[in-house]
Amino acid sequence: MSFDPVAIRRDFPIFDRTIRDGKRLVYLDSGATSQKPQVVIDAEVDFYRLHNAAVHRGAHQLAEEATDIYEGARQSVAAFIGADIDEVIFTKSATESLNLISYAMGNAPTGNRFHLKAGDAIVVTEMEHHANLIPWQQLAARTGASLSWFEVTPEGRLDLSKIDSVITEKTKVVALTHQSNVLGTINPLEAIIARAHEVGAVIVLDACQSVPHMAVDVKDLGVDFLTFSGHKVLGPTGVGIFWGRSELLAELPPFLTGGSMIETVTMTGATWAPAPRKFEAGVPNMAQAAGLAAAVKYISNIGIENVHAHEVLLTKYLLEKMSEIEALRIVGPTNTDSRGGSISFTFGDIHPHDLGQFLDSQGIAVRTGHHCAWPLNRKMGVPATTRASLYLYNTLEDCDALIAGINDAQKYFGR
Ligand code: ALA
Repeated sequence: MSFDPVAIRRDFPIFDRTIRDGKRLVYLDSGATSQKPQVVIDAEVDFYRLHNAAVHRGAHQLAEEATDIYEGARQSVAAFIGADIDEVIFTKSATESLNLISYAMGNAPTGNRFHLKAGDAIVVTEMEHHANLIPWQQLAARTGASLSWFEVTPEGRLDLSKIDSVITEKTKVVALTHQSNVLGTINPLEAIIARAHEVGAVIVLDACQSVPHMAVDVKDLGVDFLTFSGHKVLGPTGVGIFWGRSELLAELPPFLTGGSMIETVTMTGATWAPAPRKFEAGVPNMAQAAGLAAAVKYISNIGIENVHAHEVLLTKYLLEKMSEIEALRIVGPTNTDSRGGSISFTFGDIHPHDLGQFLDSQGIAVRTGHHCAWPLNRKMGVPATTRASLYLYNTLEDCDALIAGINDAQKYFGR
């Protein structure tokens, strides 16, 4: 089957509507959240309409069906990222997944491999969005461990020139993004993973912006933990994934405690069920898990490699067209080498919020601001940018509409 974004758009009901007085919707904000195909909406609705019951409890038919759907969803997600089924944990979001691991590490007693104390180090990068920065700042504050980071070069790449002095014998955890939500940069993981493992540190990969857009196999990558959100990968909001290697999950203490995550309970204490249940306290987000399973199956039917190739084509096209516009500065790599389809830019002295508002008046949805990555913006010397982020339903027509919108903005603002 050849890749046809126009046919793909027909699977997404939102593209049937118009924007701002009848204009075609040009949705270039998938980095913030993706649109949903009908199959995802149906999966979530069908769960409530036909099968709703609390999973892992109850001896009735609905509970059995709900449990089958929920555990089937775990299997689908596991297959999508090359994981073993018991290593896949449903959370409410990627942000919760990152808080899960950082809080769990903070709960680790002395003697546990995840225990942190003064003298230990946590390593992040300057290109993290806040969800993969603030939880580690908080963990450092709680435990007395230090926080250090890889810097970002003016081109928007990680500076690995001092890798051995950034990741040292003191480092216990290295947390970084796979693909920057602002710059689009895809990070070179191999050297970082090798160095982290050499010193006995674990790698936590924030894959929010990579899992939706490229083939990600957790075992091939060689990372230890990985997180992503459902809503950026065509799935519903309210569901995220936390994946960890099984031997590490066995040692990691829980984050949230309560029903379902226990083995035995007395009035004074409890023991934990094995993963994934140890990390899924309470009645989970069942309908959302069903929706996420429909999303990853939808992408697998199209082929994630085809999605990726399409996005590379559009990214190349947009980068070339943008490079022809005087006064437009791309903040991040200007070619498609190790780069995804999030393109942030400034445009002369037109403020990103003004540009975003003008583009919106043309039916073009982009994100403006600091993109929840304030330190990175500062490092790149920009208070804010306009960001166009691409996905499988975008077309060359969308890219042309953006370029025309930027040129029209120049005239509108009299520049
Ligand atoms: N991190 C998300 C974005 O880039 C929210 O828009």
